[in-house]
Amino acid sequence: MQVVIFADAQAAGAYGAGLINDRLERGALNVLGVATGSSPVPLYQALAADPHPRLTGLTAFALDEYVGLPKEHPESYDSVIDRKVRRPLGLDPARVHVPDADPERLETAGERYEQRIAEAGGVDLQILGIGATGHIGFNEPTSSLASRTRLKTLAPATRADNARFFDSEDEVPVHCITQGIGTILDAGEVLLLAQGEQKARAVAQAVEGPISSMCPASALQLHRKATLLLDEAAASQLEYTDYYRFVHQNRPDWQRP
Ligand code: F6R
Repeated sequence: MQVVIFADAQAAGAYGAGLINDRLERGALNVLGVATGSSPVPLYQALAADPHPRLTGLTAFALDEYVGLPKEHPESYDSVIDRKVRRPLGLDPARVHVPDADPERLETAGERYEQRIAEAGGVDLQILGIGATGHIGFNEPTSSLASRTRLKTLAPATRADNARFFDSEDEVPVHCITQGIGTILDAGEVLLLAQGEQKARAVAQAVEGPISSMCPASALQLHRKATLLLDEAAASQLEYTDYYRFVHQNRPDWQRP
């Protein structure tokens, strides 16, 4: 895993946007995996501020969707992706996909989403956040490291964290459809963003801990091209920060976005 530590979220977002623009420039990015939540917002803002000519041609797949919120609800991930990603980046609505969490069709939702991703040729680059529980997507601790898109139950700690987007914790849905860890690992490249002290423990476990379903993000150790963009607070419990900084400072020119 490549760990890069920045003074703040804006610097991390700008670096991530530079990396994505580099892939667009090389024609190596057609399908982008997008995350909701706060962590990738500075990255989306940086992409939108200086849009690459190929940006609007991207196909996008969201990681997850709540079960039990109508699509039109302002906090459904369909709405959030529309507001934070599709509109600012100027993407074609027909090419932006979010899991179908309609309660009537839940049984086949995972399989249908996997099929859509496969039909698009797979995700070239997946943007991720990390939960304080160590989740990626909504794969909470004990999720199978081989899991595919499916119904999951949110951890109480995640519902408490996400209550900030709702009037009360009770309004946070209990279930979701999320890409599996196996689905995420299939992406050609992974870019995880994390900020703040409350993510420090999960980040340290993901990067320096054992690969374990108790920290789903630790599965990224198995990915051959995973980069973590952290602020100082999110990196504060890592042991090898001097080494990560040294590696970053001494990276060869061809690794610079
Ligand atoms: C979002 C998602 C989650 C979030 C994570 C961090 O689609 O799948 O894994 O990335 O909960 O959320 P924030 O960024 O709001 O701290």
